[in-house]
Amino acid sequence: MLRILHFSDIHLRAPYSALPLSDIGPKRLLGAANLALRREAHFREASRKVAALLPFIEAQDVEAVICTGDYTALGTQEELRIAHDAIEKLTHRRHGFITVPGNHDVYVNSAVRERRFETHFAAFLHSDLPEYVADKPWPVVRLINDDVAVIALNSARPNPQLWRSSGIVPQAQLDALARVLADERIASRRVFLITHYAMRRRDGKYDHPWHGLTNADALVAVASQHSRLAILHGHIHWTYSHTLHGLSGRVFGAGSATFAGREGVWLYELDEGRATAIPGRWNGDCFVLDHGKSVAIFGA
Ligand SMILES: [Fe+2]
Ligand SMILES: [Fe+2]
Repeated sequence: MLRILHFSDIHLRAPYSALPLSDIGPKRLLGAANLALRREAHFREASRKVAALLPFIEAQDVEAVICTGDYTALGTQEELRIAHDAIEKLTHRRHGFITVPGNHDVYVNSAVRERRFETHFAAFLHSDLPEYVADKPWPVVRLINDDVAVIALNSARPNPQLWRSSGIVPQAQLDALARVLADERIASRRVFLITHYAMRRRDGKYDHPWHGLTNADALVAVASQHSRLAILHGHIHWTYSHTLHGLSGRVFGAGSATFAGREGVWLYELDEGRATAIPGRWNGDCFVLDHGKSVAIFGA
């Protein structure tokens, strides 16, 4: 039995004294600080909950861990360093750690220019199929075992306007995804396609243009070429899953592992004949599984 933990949107932050003006720029500072302050109450115990993921994955004998981004609030060097240190202990499972950035990890242009996420998280961005890398280092492909692969695409980008937080999977990555899915080593495996942005909201509707994935339909169209593929995402701070017409597997939003009152994760269990997703929640002290709410990952 292969067990994979999927968590997201832990939104750790550094003290405001560590917020460099050069990162944010005076015009944005007020808005950024306002946003961060409003979020702070929700993520007050974020570090404690991230630390609790370690005993959880040990108890569940998890062999691979996936995080779908939004490690930070503002994507500063200090926040990314804190976030990396917080998750480091989760990265030593037998089949490793696979991840993508969220929009908060590339909140400002300087974060992208300096390739901060790619620097702090470099150890987790190598691909087992480097011949398909089209938008360095994406797509990251990981052959977990003979039966399962994970493909990571980056959909996060800075948004110059404060009120916008939309994402896009660049065309070069979509084209590369189509080529990867046609590769026999991927076509024969069960696939988890991971990215930060959601395909749909919790109510099944498209996300708002200012908040959603602008080319969700294009991504789903390419993903639908594969016969056993599920999509994993973060960004929306609710834990949920749904089907999509044409897609062979379900879509799983991990929500946030640290958002007070809504903490959630997914645990995926796969053996030869079965693939089941079990939602996990925070009970105030530790993460626990809701086995009664399990769903099949691929097909009905
Ligand atoms: Fe988030
Ligand atoms: Fe996000």
